[in-house]
Amino acid sequence: MDWFRPAYIWFVLLALSTNLCFNNNSLAQDSKPGPETALLIRELLESAKESEFFDWLKRVRRRIHEYPELAFEEYKTSQLIRDELDAMGIQYTWPVAKTGVVATIGSGDQPLFALRADMDALPIQELVDWEHKSKINGKMHACGHDAHATMLLGAARLIQNRTNILKGTIKLVFQPGEEGHGGAYHVLKEGVLEGVQSIFALHVAPEMYVGSIASRPGPLLAGAGRFLAIIKGVGGHAAAPHKTRDPIVAASMAIIALQQIVSRESDPLDARVVSVTFVQGGEAGNVIPETVKFGGTFRSMSADSFSYLLQRIKEVIETQAAVHDCAATVDFMEETLIHYPPTINDLSMYEHARRVGEILLGEDKVHLVGQTMGAEDFSFYGQKIAATMFLIGARDENSDTITALHTPYLEIAEETLPIGAALHAAVAITYLDDHAPNP
Ligand SMILES: *[C@@H]1O[C@H](CO)[C@@H](O)[C@H](O)[C@H]1NC(C)=O
Repeated sequence: MDWFRPAYIWFVLLALSTNLCFNNNSLAQDSKPGPETALLIRELLESAKESEFFDWLKRVRRRIHEYPELAFEEYKTSQLIRDELDAMGIQYTWPVAKTGVVATIGSGDQPLFALRADMDALPIQELVDWEHKSKINGKMHACGHDAHATMLLGAARLIQNRTNILKGTIKLVFQPGEEGHGGAYHVLKEGVLEGVQSIFALHVAPEMYVGSIASRPGPLLAGAGRFLAIIKGVGGHAAAPHKTRDPIVAASMAIIALQQIVSRESDPLDARVVSVTFVQGGEAGNVIPETVKFGGTFRSMSADSFSYLLQRIKEVIETQAAVHDCAATVDFMEETLIHYPPTINDLSMYEHARRVGEILLGEDKVHLVGQTMGAEDFSFYGQKIAATMFLIGARDENSDTITALHTPYLEIAEETLPIGAALHAAVAITYLDDHAPNP
């Protein structure tokens, strides 16, 4: 995931929103789970923390970490996942969306619940010096998907050991291509999640301490798209600008004009982002080039704002080019870089996961976070299925450095793994209990 870094903002928002909307929230009717459910949830964590189980989790995570693979190239990772599922005697469908694996535990009947982990790494050179550092030059699990896949395998083992108490079916989605490639969209297209009522996912948060989790009901992350503009003029000798149509000036004005879409045209309370992230044009000090390329990302918390931004980005660039007697094309690359919708947590699914988290970790360890403009393809599931995503703290309690996602320095405290495995399993098993038809 493409997170927003300054995590402290979350905690400011957390404090605010706790006061503003949470204490007297009608959602929180607190139908507390019974003592048997509470016992089961705590047992799952105890099983996951047993040393043999924890050692296995670490081995799995380290192997995935050592051999990072980019979007839709997760062959080794997928093989490792299938080998582990085979060892547990769990059935699965493969390949799903090229390299994905969707495992099934339970009767095959309703209710159907899904858990999701992503598998792809990033084109980043790891700069953390440790024994299990990435062995692949220029690739790293810098977004924690190694931990995500491991936690889901952990959940598979915990659930498989308790099939006698399962009241329905749990699907485990090992998804490819999350980083900008919309793997979730492709998994859904293959129909493997037909009939699934709810889906849950975890994302590591390296700035939050191990043993804490956080999320919020409703909109959590932004919808995101990319754009690429090409401005075409007439090149020529820099000493005779009057014989050219200078695309550098046109592009410069267009980039400045794009800044006003958010600052002058948008409601300050409706979060939007337009960022130009690259400009390419010209090579020599005495030549006006024929074309300039630039592009970037745009984000918003609602579909309406998203289509507004898309339309205005196109209009502003084309119009600014015309002012300078140049021509512009604006490509939103929907075919190859499918736009991500906003990630919106289903209210009742969020409440369910929150309650389970409170029993597992303690009420003071479950936090409310503010929205950020990061984006996640988990949002595609949310368009079809009641979905909720939680952040899981992955910062070593004894460390005073804070690392960040999408950097070469990311570190994940491995104590996160058993907690995530148990949380996944507990959310899924208790969901089935709550939604099974009465006998
Ligand atoms: C499997 O179940 C047994 C008995 O309930 C329990 O003691 C053990 O910890 C469980 N192991 C796992 C991996 O869940």
